[in-house]
Amino acid sequence: MRGKVAAALQPRARLAQFGQPFLQPFQEQTILTLSHELSELSATPFVSLMAGPTPVDEMPRLRAAIGGGPRLLVKRDDAIPFAFGGNKVRKLEYVAAEAVAAGADILITVGGVQSNHARVTAAVAARLGVRCLLITNGSPPARPTANALINGLLGAEIEYIPSRDERAGAVVAAVERLQQEGRRPYFIPLGASTPLGALGFARAVGELVAQLNEPPDVIVHAGSSGGTQAGLVAGTILHGLPTRVIGISGDDPASAIASKVGQVVMGVGQLLGSPGDAFASASPIEVDAGFVGDGYGIPTDQSREAQQLAARTEALFVDHTYSAKALAALIAYVRAGRFGDDETVLFWHTGGQVGLFA
Ligand SMILES: Cc1ncc(COP(=O)(O)O)c(C=O)c1O
Repeated sequence: MRGKVAAALQPRARLAQFGQPFLQPFQEQTILTLSHELSELSATPFVSLMAGPTPVDEMPRLRAAIGGGPRLLVKRDDAIPFAFGGNKVRKLEYVAAEAVAAGADILITVGGVQSNHARVTAAVAARLGVRCLLITNGSPPARPTANALINGLLGAEIEYIPSRDERAGAVVAAVERLQQEGRRPYFIPLGASTPLGALGFARAVGELVAQLNEPPDVIVHAGSSGGTQAGLVAGTILHGLPTRVIGISGDDPASAIASKVGQVVMGVGQLLGSPGDAFASASPIEVDAGFVGDGYGIPTDQSREAQQLAARTEALFVDHTYSAKALAALIAYVRAGRFGDDETVLFWHTGGQVGLFA
């Protein structure tokens, strides 16, 4: 790979001094936070795409419908106003800032025809006033719906490739071609699940802390390319929270996702000036791939039930591919008595509701 192409594909590595942990009051508890790393996080530039904190709602009717158990909360990242919201907005705030700093005039990313990440990347490009190329595995839909429809409205260019296996080669070829044309492409890896992208969720944990009197005992969320979980885990480390973060796979085996999450957590530690190993080993990585069923995007009986219960009890909408399977896991855990009645379980809604219209 040529140097210039390699540079366009490389996430930034930024190292700073390792700070000393210190004790800081959090409501009535005293917990450990990493002051230097938190100030590095605050100092990292991002493009503001969030209108403010997303709501945290109680889910009393869902709780009653599944037979009681722990207090259930939902963090409403589905309600982010920008481009129909979802977890990708938080990650792309940071990635977009780097693209702007690099002088990019075209964003490139990869994903399936109905990728939520591709839709938000196309929207970010529109907001920044730059072009967008989506390298899309799959076939052109006869009649674009949902995310594919929105990508067209946003003016994204779409290059179709037959399968996921061709993604890497197609990206290198596109970057080379665009550079030869005198353009300044900026490549965003799958799901923006880089350490830089994960900072969006590390910051989101601070947002949550400011909204609650006590941190939740458990966070359950949908996971795939690992950036959301890595950011949440990094955020709990930064704020010294005892909260468990459980990622529910929408596709890959748990070991593959956990290993990616671990790498990104280490990368976050490096970006914020901590020795990577110490930062990553500070918290276990919990991934459950037991709710995928027959595969990516294929509903299961449990995900269908979760989808209907969420809509009928809380007027909350979860998509087949990701968030319905994560909510199905949460419901199964509660029914199995895995949490005490005195515990708080927070479902971090990662969006994806556009997929309901595919
Ligand atoms: C709605 C939704 N939830 C969850 C995920 C998984 O997040 P991550 O890729 O950060 O693991 C994705 C994307 O892959 C998504 O689109």
